[in-house]
Amino acid sequence: MLLHLSTWPETEKFLERSKTIVIPIGSNEQHGPTGLLGTDWLCPEIIAHETQKTADILVGPTFNIGMAQHHLAFPGTISLRPSTFIAAIGDWARSLAGHGFERIFFLNGHGGNVATIEAAFSELYAEASYTGRRSTYALKLKNWWDLKGVMQLANQQFPTGHGSHATPSEIAITQWAYPDAIKAANYAPQIAPTGPIREALDFRARYADGRMGSDPGLATPEKGGALVAMACKALVEEVEAFGREPAPGPAQ
Ligand code: NI
Repeated sequence: MLLHLSTWPETEKFLERSKTIVIPIGSNEQHGPTGLLGTDWLCPEIIAHETQKTADILVGPTFNIGMAQHHLAFPGTISLRPSTFIAAIGDWARSLAGHGFERIFFLNGHGGNVATIEAAFSELYAEASYTGRRSTYALKLKNWWDLKGVMQLANQQFPTGHGSHATPSEIAITQWAYPDAIKAANYAPQIAPTGPIREALDFRARYADGRMGSDPGLATPEKGGALVAMACKALVEEVEAFGREPAPGPAQ
C-alpha cells in the first residue's frame, strides 16, 4: 500500500492491522556520467514499491533530498545541510507518530545520509529521555545494500569495479526500473579512483566524472532485477521482524 495513493480512512484502517510504515530515503545527487541524479532515492523507492505489490506493508512518500554537500560541484545535486536534514526527519517522524505509527522504518539509499539520520534518531529519542517518558515510537535505519543477501549478490555480479559511488549495482537497479533512461558513456579510466570525501570542490578535483571506485559499465537491467528481487524478499522479513519487537511505550 502506497500512502500517497491512499486516503486518510484507508490509512486509519491500515493502522488497525499494523503500526509500521516504511519510508524510502535517499539523495538527489550526481552519479557519474551515466548514473541518474535520482539514483539514491530511486533505489530504495523501487525496492519498497515493488515489495508492497505482494506484501501488506505501507510505504510512505520518498524522502528524496539528503545530505550531499560533497556533490554540490556537479549540476543537478540538491543537498540539505545536516542540521536541516535532522529537522526535516524529525518533523516527518513526529507527524507519523502523531497518527499512531509506532515503528518508522527508513530504507536508505545514500551512504552519506547515515550519520545524519542516526543523529536525527538520537534527537527524537532525546525528546523522550529528557522528559522522563517512554517514546511512543521506534525508528529503524536500513541501507538497501545491507538487506540480507544483497551485497553478497552484488559481489558475485561485480567482483571488480563495484566501488562506492555510482556503483554498477545501484545503476543496474535504476536500469531495471527505468529502461528508457539508460545512458552510455566512455569511462576513463574504466574503474574510477578512490579516496576521501571532503567538500564539493575537493570532490570534483579528485573524482573528475563523479564516480568513486566504480565501473558503471558493468550494470545491466537483468542484474538490477535480480538485486531488487533479493532486496524485496529481505525487506519483508526486516519489516515483519521490526513489527514483532515489543511495543514502544504508551502515550502519556
Ligand atoms: Ni548512490
